[in-house]
Amino acid sequence: MTDRYSDYDAFAGVYNRHWGSFATRIVPVLEKLVLNALPSGARILDLCCGTGQLAHALSAEGFRLTGIDGSASMIAIARENAPDASFKVDDARGFAVVDEFHAALSTFDSLNHVMSLEELTSVFGNVHRALLSGGVFVFDLNMEVGYRTRWRGSHSYVEDDHACIARSSYVPEERIGKVEVTMFFRRGDRWERSDVTLLQRCYTEDEILNALQSAGFVRVETYDGARDLGEDLSRYPGRNFFVCHKPGSP
Ligand SMILES: C[S@@+](CC[C@H](N)C(=O)[O-])C[C@H]1O[C@@H](n2cnc3c(N)ncnc32)[C@H](O)[C@@H]1O
Repeated sequence: MTDRYSDYDAFAGVYNRHWGSFATRIVPVLEKLVLNALPSGARILDLCCGTGQLAHALSAEGFRLTGIDGSASMIAIARENAPDASFKVDDARGFAVVDEFHAALSTFDSLNHVMSLEELTSVFGNVHRALLSGGVFVFDLNMEVGYRTRWRGSHSYVEDDHACIARSSYVPEERIGKVEVTMFFRRGDRWERSDVTLLQRCYTEDEILNALQSAGFVRVETYDGARDLGEDLSRYPGRNFFVCHKPGSP
């Protein structure tokens, strides 16, 4: 079995501060795609849950949330952010849960971090097993257009106690996106540097649809977030949302 994915460990606090709110901004989209059709108190798996902001927002709506993430540091923060949800440190490629959830979510291109189609197919198989009959799986992925238009240049945050610069790039021949994050943390009267490199893999829509089909998912719908899903996603061209179902009745 591959090592548990833990690349976000050193980045967790900074991610929580500057990136963690993405998930809550797409709650209206998730309501439209899946949440409004779920029974009250439905059990939801948040796969690659990060720092738990989505789990917190959905727990507040009365859903019962379980978050799984490979990074122990992300999960430690998630437990503070979402005390009503339960969390587990585990890898999306290897977790084993059977017939437990009405729905599964994986937001903010988390599954682009899965670097081979074989492993992505394993993730889909694990989610399929974790769902009840008729259960729904919704996730978003960066597509080629997204990497080509958004994965370039850098942005930075400067705070009193830390600073962070994130530089993005994309190599089309390899279909690999890279974010290099350099962080500085104030430790008393000096600054300490820390670096993290995060990789993503770009998949074609056909690859994703075939992998979902081989994992057993049916009734797959694809949405171009910027075009189909409203205002807030218009600044993320090339982010697709996939909605698919485990066969059977809920
Ligand atoms: C971009 S963050 C998104 C976090 C959260 N879903 C959100 O919307 O804020 C990606 C997350 O996926 C997790 N992750 C990536 N690959 C993983 C894997 N194979 N197993 C478990 N977690 C993984 C990372 O640790 C990180 O927390």
